[in-house]
Amino acid sequence: MADPLKEERTAAAWDGPVPMIDLKAQYATLASELDAAIARVVQSQMFILGPEVDAFEREIERYLGVKHAIGCASGSDAILLALMALGYGPGDEVIMTPYTFFATAGSTYRLGIRPVFCDIDPVTYNLDPTKIEEKLTRRTRAIMPVHLFGQCADLDAIGRIARGRELAVVEDAAQIIGATYNGRHAGTLGDAGCFSFFPTKNLGAWGDAGMVTTNDDELAARVRALRVHGGLKTYHHELVGMNSRLDGFQGAVLRAKLPHLSGWNAQRGANAARYRELFAQAGVLQSEGDQPERGKVIVPAVVRESHIFHQYVMRVHATQRDGLLRHLQSRQIGCAIYYPVPLHLQPCFAELGYRAGDLPEAERASRETLALPIYPELPAAAQERVVEVVAEFLRG
Ligand SMILES: Cc1ncc(COP(=O)(O)O)c(C=O)c1O
Repeated sequence: MADPLKEERTAAAWDGPVPMIDLKAQYATLASELDAAIARVVQSQMFILGPEVDAFEREIERYLGVKHAIGCASGSDAILLALMALGYGPGDEVIMTPYTFFATAGSTYRLGIRPVFCDIDPVTYNLDPTKIEEKLTRRTRAIMPVHLFGQCADLDAIGRIARGRELAVVEDAAQIIGATYNGRHAGTLGDAGCFSFFPTKNLGAWGDAGMVTTNDDELAARVRALRVHGGLKTYHHELVGMNSRLDGFQGAVLRAKLPHLSGWNAQRGANAARYRELFAQAGVLQSEGDQPERGKVIVPAVVRESHIFHQYVMRVHATQRDGLLRHLQSRQIGCAIYYPVPLHLQPCFAELGYRAGDLPEAERASRETLALPIYPELPAAAQERVVEVVAEFLRG
């Protein structure tokens, strides 16, 4: 007798390429709202900051439940502005993960602050709080957790360490917009949160864009001044700041997209659940441990109350990772390695004196992880195709 499920799968079979992300698919669902948003800016001729940016800042404050949201030119600048507003500079140290996008450390280092790298938890890929204490020195000023791939770092443990020593917590919230921790939004729980709206983020602009959030009035006032060269009153400067203003087009686009963010995040979560099911059905899911066996995948673990799956990053045996990447590429399946070289081993940070082997979990993650497409509009049939191609390789 015919198997109706099998027939349905065959009927829906996907044989085309699967991109890592499909921003055109998102645009197609919102074209009229987005086009109208752009038209408003054109009509107003207010291109830098202005009413759309003001409105977006107030809407984000309400969405995140935070007192101040200050738009700026990028997530990298948000980190710069937060650290400048906190008053850190040469001679100061900030503890952070080496398993992150370059900007976490790059923006810190540019201010003359020393990034002090601390190893990660192999399950969440976030800063391992049990390893922070040994990194503290009398020059430590802050801890900067990155909520990597859309899952929060252990903010309770990090907060306890920080409070005991009067250290600031600066959240690199570039990948976390919309996730909650103990019922509050990530990026609002530390002294400052630094968001990115790079186009491929869960809430993506149509260009570079970023934001600093804080509940601290004085810190907010300094960030507001620093983004316009340190002077709130034109041509009067109490601080030396920079030009890092959010532009009107980005404010308008982000306003149009914000009401859809929760739905998109939920769809990413549903896609992640589907991957788990499909890998199990294909017989390649490893259900225990963080040491991948050959021929298996370890899918992302959701250990916090929410995960917004900015990226879907799985682990495979190090001897199979690069072969799997090439196999997927040859079948035109989107995939990427986040991140192939941990920051403590980047040539530009050689003077910090780290060696291979110093931060073994971050280094192992760099050898074993691979990201698959997870964007909200990803069709179920395309996911089946991705899993089929992964399984085909792993089964040899
Ligand atoms: C963890 C992390 N920090 C900082 C940034 C920097 O953001 P932007 O690209 O907007 O400068 C990113 C962006 O990719 C990121 O993923």
